[in-house]
Amino acid sequence: MLKPFQLFIYGLVSLASMAYAQQPQAATGKRLIDILDPQSQATQNMQGLLWTAGIFSFLVLIVTGGALWWVVQKYKTRPGTRPTKPGDSNEPAQFHGNNVLEMFLIGVPVLIVSVLSIYTAKALADVTAKPSNVAETIQVNGWQFWWDFDYEKQGFRNSNELVIPAGQPVELKVSGKDVIHSFGVANLGGRRDAIPGQTNKLIINAAKPGIYYGQCFELCGASHANMLFRVIALPQAEYNDWVSKAKAFQAPTPSDPQLAQGLKVFQANCSGCHAVKGLQGGAPSFPDLSYFGSHTTYAAGIFRNVDNNSELSKEKGDRAVKINGQERVVTLEDWIRNSAQVKPGSLMPAFDGSMHEVKNAETGKWEEVPYTKLSDDDINAVAAYLRSLKLEGVNFKAIPEITNENRDQ
Ligand code: CUA
Repeated sequence: MLKPFQLFIYGLVSLASMAYAQQPQAATGKRLIDILDPQSQATQNMQGLLWTAGIFSFLVLIVTGGALWWVVQKYKTRPGTRPTKPGDSNEPAQFHGNNVLEMFLIGVPVLIVSVLSIYTAKALADVTAKPSNVAETIQVNGWQFWWDFDYEKQGFRNSNELVIPAGQPVELKVSGKDVIHSFGVANLGGRRDAIPGQTNKLIINAAKPGIYYGQCFELCGASHANMLFRVIALPQAEYNDWVSKAKAFQAPTPSDPQLAQGLKVFQANCSGCHAVKGLQGGAPSFPDLSYFGSHTTYAAGIFRNVDNNSELSKEKGDRAVKINGQERVVTLEDWIRNSAQVKPGSLMPAFDGSMHEVKNAETGKWEEVPYTKLSDDDINAVAAYLRSLKLEGVNFKAIPEITNENRDQ
């Protein structure tokens, strides 16, 4: 049974969430993740429940709090009077129990809780039900510190950008590959822990096309807060087009000398880990870089992927980091040169010749060894090569809403 104190707390929570919903956009800039902005059937369902429960709770708070206030005002001892003692002429009527009142006090809360339980059970059933017309099934794997979206049936993978058809139920099979992560995209509803060795299913359905923001919700290491992703919901025809292009993608052999150099450097240093369709090598435990140039961001959604570094600026929300003692907006070249310097805990080796510790397999001792050093020319060439890997006619960067405002908040 709900006690007045619980109701009071619940009422406060409801008020706080209302206040949050009213918070002006201007104060904090654009909110990228907003639990009170439902964009799917599931979140609209949950929102309805939240408001119903909130209004119920608020009414109960007013009634019980008001009654308490009234009783205290009416019967409190006033200055110049003494507390009433048994036998005094003004002593109120003494009685033991009042069946009608007690039935009322038990019955009303039971009724409230029952109604809310029915609402909750219904919302729960609606939100978790698997529809018969699932448009796509995607395996979601959480890694330190990025997301792998494996379109198993289609035969390709996409990193950190979950492209889905809008207005269609999409089934996600969420798993963790190293530690426990948590997949959550607040505006589309639901959150699933990404646990190694386990698959947690989630249905999402974006009501309208657009870009939705998600992130890891389980503390998973140094760059937990840098483990973002985007859900790009496209109209069905555009989605079909994207799928067929992603499926058919094969890395072209560039004729431009800088891109050819980039390909060579990539094959010598990167393709052991990163797969690019049409090239040898790569492993599923590293981000797939096929059509990297068509991605809106890289490094798990924290840096904006642009064709030209001059498009980057702090004013546009691009992230600035101290690099060798100097703060500046991070470029793709910075990322390739030393990723851990701009994203703590990044597992990609540096390519700047800096020292790192490696355990000697024979002696068991840790030794300082230098990373491979790539020349600026080579790094620029790899960056140019990656940017050139595009799906023709696909331009997610043109979808509005990618403002990167407020990214650091
Ligand atoms: Cu992955 Cu937090």
